[in-house]
Amino acid sequence: MHTRKLGELEVSAIGLGCMNMSFGYGAPDPEECERALHKSLDVGYRFLDTASAYGMGHNEQLIGRVLKSKRNQFVLASKCGIKIDENGGRFVDCSPANIRQTCEQSLTNLQTDCIDLYYLHRLDHNIPIEDSVGELSRLVEEGKIRCIGLSEISSKTLRKAHAVFPVTAVQSEYSLWTRDPENKVLAACKELGIGFVPFSPLGRGFLTGAVSADTDYGDMDMRAFMPRFTGDNLLANLQLVDQLKHLAQRNNCTPGQFSLAWLLAQGEDNIVPIPGTKHAAYVEENAAAADVNISAEDLAAAGNLFAGDAVKGPRYAKEFEISLDPED
Ligand SMILES: NC(=O)c1ccc[n+]([C@@H]2O[C@H](COP(=O)([O-])OP(=O)(O)OC[C@H]3O[C@@H](n4cnc5c(N)ncnc54)[C@H](OP(=O)(O)O)[C@@H]3O)[C@@H](O)[C@H]2O)c1
Repeated sequence: MHTRKLGELEVSAIGLGCMNMSFGYGAPDPEECERALHKSLDVGYRFLDTASAYGMGHNEQLIGRVLKSKRNQFVLASKCGIKIDENGGRFVDCSPANIRQTCEQSLTNLQTDCIDLYYLHRLDHNIPIEDSVGELSRLVEEGKIRCIGLSEISSKTLRKAHAVFPVTAVQSEYSLWTRDPENKVLAACKELGIGFVPFSPLGRGFLTGAVSADTDYGDMDMRAFMPRFTGDNLLANLQLVDQLKHLAQRNNCTPGQFSLAWLLAQGEDNIVPIPGTKHAAYVEENAAAADVNISAEDLAAAGNLFAGDAVKGPRYAKEFEISLDPED
């Protein structure tokens, strides 16, 4: 796979999101997850994404255990700042003390001496961003992390953080059906020479065409509680995906590959999507998106199809939103 640049980090044009090997979208099969991790390196992924919060350390431990002997083959990103309480509730803590403590635990979980890219998972509205970034910069000086990132951050917060210490990458939800970063933060990244990592680039699976009106998510799948995946919103959104399927077919690729290629086409070198999967076959299919050729006309048509208020439903239900940082 060809490479792209996130600041000084050279990474594969498409990275692997590992979250759903531990939590998110249904029960994982542990053996298939291991196969998927090995397959990712075999087919050219050089960028893996995890977080301390995913499965309360399970996801970092999985990567550490399975890929320890291959650690020099990939750029490793993790995140700190979201904690889980004893009732399973999530809260944000980006205090310097928690950042340091979580980083030490991440290093142990991942069985590595240094994490290449360490993000604040969310803005902590109770701690000045300068204090959180200041602690991350000390971890860089100490060699525990190489670069710093921010997730789900506004352009205003990004500028404040970047003034304290250079930010290497911003990770926020961005896909054909979630276009929020097009309002300011993408432009700020381009202006400041910061990489942009779209999370949920397949619209949590929706943009692959694998979701239907009959999909039964079960209890372990957060999509069962997401407004875009339920009721009348789902039916309206499925009509958009039907049209995406036609565009993909016309360009000899799958709707998921089309969606990833569309993201790659939104930036010259600094946009690196991280599709998530727990299946080796999907790992391979998604990697091939780095090489598909789609006409400029059809890329624009897909962008227009999902633009404005075409997509029905907000991305999160209010009760599951956690510490967002909207643009002014
Ligand atoms: N910073 C943050 O706050 C944040 C939030 C969410 C996610 N993330 C990161 O972003 C990564 C990706 O996001 P995501 O996992 O939420 O969403 P996503 O990549 O948009 O979609 C994942 C879903 O798509 C399915 N899928 C993947 N490839 C497929 C294919 N080729 N054909 C059919 N279905 C396919 C997966 O199925 P299976 O799971 O069954 O394989 C899973 O259900 C995560 O792993 C995580 O690392 C970060």
